Amino acid sequence: MREQAERIVSQLTLDEKISLLTGKDFWRTKSIDRVGLNSIMLSDGPHGLRKQGEESDHLGLNESIVSVCFPTASAVACTFNEELVERMGRSLGSNSADEEVKVLLGPGNNIKRSPLCGRNFEYFSEDPLLAGKITSAMIKGIQSQGVACSVKHFAVNNQEELRMVVNAVVDERTLREIYLTAFEIPVKESNPWTIMSAYNRINGIYASENNRLLNEILRDEWGFDGLVVSDWGAVDHLYKAIANGMDLEMPTSREVGVDNVKKALADNLITEEQINVAATNLVYLTSRGNEITPDTFDIDQAHHLAREVAEEAIVLLKNDNSLLPITADKYQSIGLIGGFAVTPRYQGSGSSRVNSYKVTTLLESFVETFGAKQVTFAQGYDVSTDVPSQTLMNQAIEVAKSSDVVVLSVGLTDDYESEGLDRDHLNLPTNHIALIEEVMKHNKNVVMVLSNGSAIKIPFKDECPAIVEGWLSGESGAEAMVNILSGKANPSGRLAETFILNESQDPAAGNFPGTNHEVVYEEGIFIGYRAHQKERNTVQFPFGFGLSYTNFDYSDLTVDVIGKEEARVSVVIHNTGLVDGKEVIQLYVNENNPLLTRPVRELKRFDKVFLKAGESKTVTFSLDRRCFAFFNTEIQDWSVNTGEFTIEIGKSCEDIQCSSTVHIESFESNVRATDQRTYVGREVFSKGQKVNRNTTVSDLETHPTGRLLYNKIMNAVNPEEAGDVLCEKALISMIRDLPLRNLSLFAGEEDAMDEKSLDFIIKAMNATSQDKLLGKIVGLATRFSK
Ligand code: BGC
Repeated sequence: MREQAERIVSQLTLDEKISLLTGKDFWRTKSIDRVGLNSIMLSDGPHGLRKQGEESDHLGLNESIVSVCFPTASAVACTFNEELVERMGRSLGSNSADEEVKVLLGPGNNIKRSPLCGRNFEYFSEDPLLAGKITSAMIKGIQSQGVACSVKHFAVNNQEELRMVVNAVVDERTLREIYLTAFEIPVKESNPWTIMSAYNRINGIYASENNRLLNEILRDEWGFDGLVVSDWGAVDHLYKAIANGMDLEMPTSREVGVDNVKKALADNLITEEQINVAATNLVYLTSRGNEITPDTFDIDQAHHLAREVAEEAIVLLKNDNSLLPITADKYQSIGLIGGFAVTPRYQGSGSSRVNSYKVTTLLESFVETFGAKQVTFAQGYDVSTDVPSQTLMNQAIEVAKSSDVVVLSVGLTDDYESEGLDRDHLNLPTNHIALIEEVMKHNKNVVMVLSNGSAIKIPFKDECPAIVEGWLSGESGAEAMVNILSGKANPSGRLAETFILNESQDPAAGNFPGTNHEVVYEEGIFIGYRAHQKERNTVQFPFGFGLSYTNFDYSDLTVDVIGKEEARVSVVIHNTGLVDGKEVIQLYVNENNPLLTRPVRELKRFDKVFLKAGESKTVTFSLDRRCFAFFNTEIQDWSVNTGEFTIEIGKSCEDIQCSSTVHIESFESNVRATDQRTYVGREVFSKGQKVNRNTTVSDLETHPTGRLLYNKIMNAVNPEEAGDVLCEKALISMIRDLPLRNLSLFAGEEDAMDEKSLDFIIKAMNATSQDKLLGKIVGLATRFSK
């Protein structure tokens, strides 16, 4: 197949090959009829298809076709269920195939470095093994339908602030053990056909122009044989990107990219061979999976599957005195309180926003399950503001007083977490907090049901008897929640991220989101539970935590060391409770006397098993060398140190049920390692520095002449453009963060600025007293165009 792509490329003219390096429009690649090369469509992802119709707008924000909205990634990871995630991927793939979408832009697989990253709802976990395995399962499912996925955003894209220019400064060991492992696992296990290179720089070099990342690591070391597509607008200079391993610039940069490559070719900055490689990767992609007959897509089945995923994602955090499940014999009247019960927050904003097929609400699902007579509803707060309303509060108090049990639906609104916008704190909106406090004064049986895409500070956590984390649970999430609350389904979700006590426990605190276009990953490998266990933090809820309506006992742990650097583990799990249920078995490893500082324990394997009440099962795991290894910067490879390792089986990272210490023998005779923390690349914009292509709109705010351009751009922002995809705050933040090079890309065809004009404006803004004339021109131009 690849040979066929090479043959096609060999028939193309140089101009044709160069033309393929940038897209045809916002979502499509170019076709060349002469050689039978078709255009293909790429669409977001990741938790539902967001295909725009024929009238795609230049921002990609207009309404998309109707599709099923699955739970978002932070929920999906909490299922710890690879088989279920693969089925979800299959459904997404068959929907895409049905709509003639060749590439689904997802899954999003960045590591949750800080709980404050606004896009965490689109990412799986703080742990690279869990993130990697769930990504792998999703890819298997999507690609089984002949549809490519695009694992994103490669790599180290862990914040929204200044995402298009920020330089993430990370040492090599941290990069390998945390941020890259999450991508390495799926590349090696599931062979994604495309990968999306991130917006940001890594140690000074843009991810899309990063030879070390894209060629040396991704292709040469991991064996990736697919196409690297840029994130939308991630390319600074197309020729540099192509010369360094990226293959396709999206969306189109029209003639700008083409001219850039032609000029670079003439100047010997890029070779025709490099262009051939990129063109071949694109041609190859258009043919991959074309022999596959996809499943027939059934939208109602997909809706039910989305419910099944949500059911396994919901995490029961607290259930004092077995308040849950809510059954008719325990409670005669149920008070349902909260605006989210009728206007659910079930997905996030930005490029992942799905035009959902059938959104069900908690109120509808409660009435259906318990009957209209048993359920009384009060709104409690207005979903469009943070400000408490006394009228709504009073109604809620009345409901609380007259109900046997209260289900209180609260969480984060779109203004709090979004693509393009990080959070400043972990709190819920003020009106939600005030409501919880009031309702708890009037009813003892309160069940707090949370809708949020990322960890939060749970108000009244100690006082509230029952807490259920529902995440952004997709269009059928309410049905899933009622099944859990009523006991029809037994909760089996486990936290894929730590719920810290407060912002000061954030491992990235002090280094997030950075300054002067730069963020230093000072905390190294110690993020998430790795940080909290090192610091001995008491957190709200630890990684891996989640309750069930039944109990599971663990026994008979055996660990057999097999030759060198490998082991086999088995453990018996017994459902000792009265109801059937699923348990997540988590295997952690730690090295007893490491050469370098290593985490207290790290997740290396997990499994989810179903056990009928009273049933027992033996669960087995194979541990390979990577389960014991660390990244050794001295040899630029993974090393296993001969010595004692403890294998622990836990219900969470803090609740170890059984453990065994074994001696592991290394293949290396004498492992040596030094903790080198070398950071390279510190190219930043600071006040007084010259304006360049990567200066952002917000940088101009304080620039003497740039200020005029800044005002002009910000005055032209029309919040209506975002439709319901982004809140106004997020849209403004995204525009402020745009580098000048992207002004034309996202300006729309008729307003497009060519590279010459951009260069001229930049020159003018940098004008010194010697070239006063330029300064005057830009001053006048901006004044007149106001
Ligand atoms: C996002 C990507 C998305 C792309 C296309 C970018 O802004 O970062 O995740 O796939 O837009 O919508």
